[in-house]
Amino acid sequence: MKKIPSEIVPLLLDWYKKSKRDLPWRKTSDPYCIWLSEIMLQQTRVEAVKPYYKRFLEACPNVDALAKIPEEGLFKLWEGLGYYSRARNLQKAAKIIQSEYGGVFPNEYETLRRLPGIGDYTAGAVSSIAFGERVPAVDGNVLRVVARLTGTDADIALPETKKAFRKELLPLIPKEAGDFNQSLIELGATVCLPNGEPNCNACPLAPLCRAYQEEKTGEIPKRSKKKPRRIEERTVLIIEDGERTALGKRPDKGLLAGLFELPNAEGHLNENELLAFVRSLGFEPLQWKRLDDAKHIFTHVEWRMIAYSVRVSPEFDEAHGDGRYFLVDNEILHRDYAIPSAFSAYTKYL
Ligand code: ADE
Repeated sequence: MKKIPSEIVPLLLDWYKKSKRDLPWRKTSDPYCIWLSEIMLQQTRVEAVKPYYKRFLEACPNVDALAKIPEEGLFKLWEGLGYYSRARNLQKAAKIIQSEYGGVFPNEYETLRRLPGIGDYTAGAVSSIAFGERVPAVDGNVLRVVARLTGTDADIALPETKKAFRKELLPLIPKEAGDFNQSLIELGATVCLPNGEPNCNACPLAPLCRAYQEEKTGEIPKRSKKKPRRIEERTVLIIEDGERTALGKRPDKGLLAGLFELPNAEGHLNENELLAFVRSLGFEPLQWKRLDDAKHIFTHVEWRMIAYSVRVSPEFDEAHGDGRYFLVDNEILHRDYAIPSAFSAYTKYL
């Protein structure tokens, strides 16, 4: 791999000062807030994160509050963001900070790196932004910027590519480590865009960029294809008796582990199968109606969903059902229960 020219440092710092977006987590030096923002930003767009970030900090303004919030409340704050394991790991880490670090936020990369949910990127981002530690923070944006800058044909999907980029960046990191790391992230997010056209005319690094000079910004970064997702057919049910709706809790392991869900079954059930399934859960169907189809994409699986709304008799025979589902008063459901986004095509009917 070609060396990264050290001239990028002043160019990036200068550009960042002038061009950075005004984002809520850039107005604080509180490591707790910076950590929260980095976790939320991992799989979610900046604009989508903003309202969640604000609301989360109102409910849990510090590590102590996060460690103590009941899990249902935590998930309610996370509802719609997806990847709930992020929220679970946040709380696990908060509890460790309370029990092992006396409630004081760890201020070094190496210590942060050992907490649940914190990998190389997040440890690098938090320790550089909050504490000025001179460590790299290589996320997808930075991989793209560095790949184009150096003109490498290395596959950015490979862990060794990330490792090589971290090693190349390390000796360049200036004392303004947080601004430097964020300038690379920001450049990737706003100028050195993926697919189609990066906006090279607005890029402070264009004069140094090999991909730009060699007209290879369309081919670089190179990324090997991920394994295709497994397609799963499911039938989702809104089972309600006029006042209450059926919900279940998913198993503690696997997809959407431990979260609430609408009743659902594998495969696309026809009406006879639907009625048999509803009865097997202990409900007596009175009326039913097909709803629109929907799909939801997870990391490794894609759900192709059909759905029915089923009105059932208020007499719910829990003893006859398989115990997976229970009825929740509609008002309480809206207030207290977080339903994962996989079901968002159907939550409008609740
Ligand atoms: N994506 C990841 N970290 C970010 C940050 N600090 N600012 C903007 N976008 C980001």
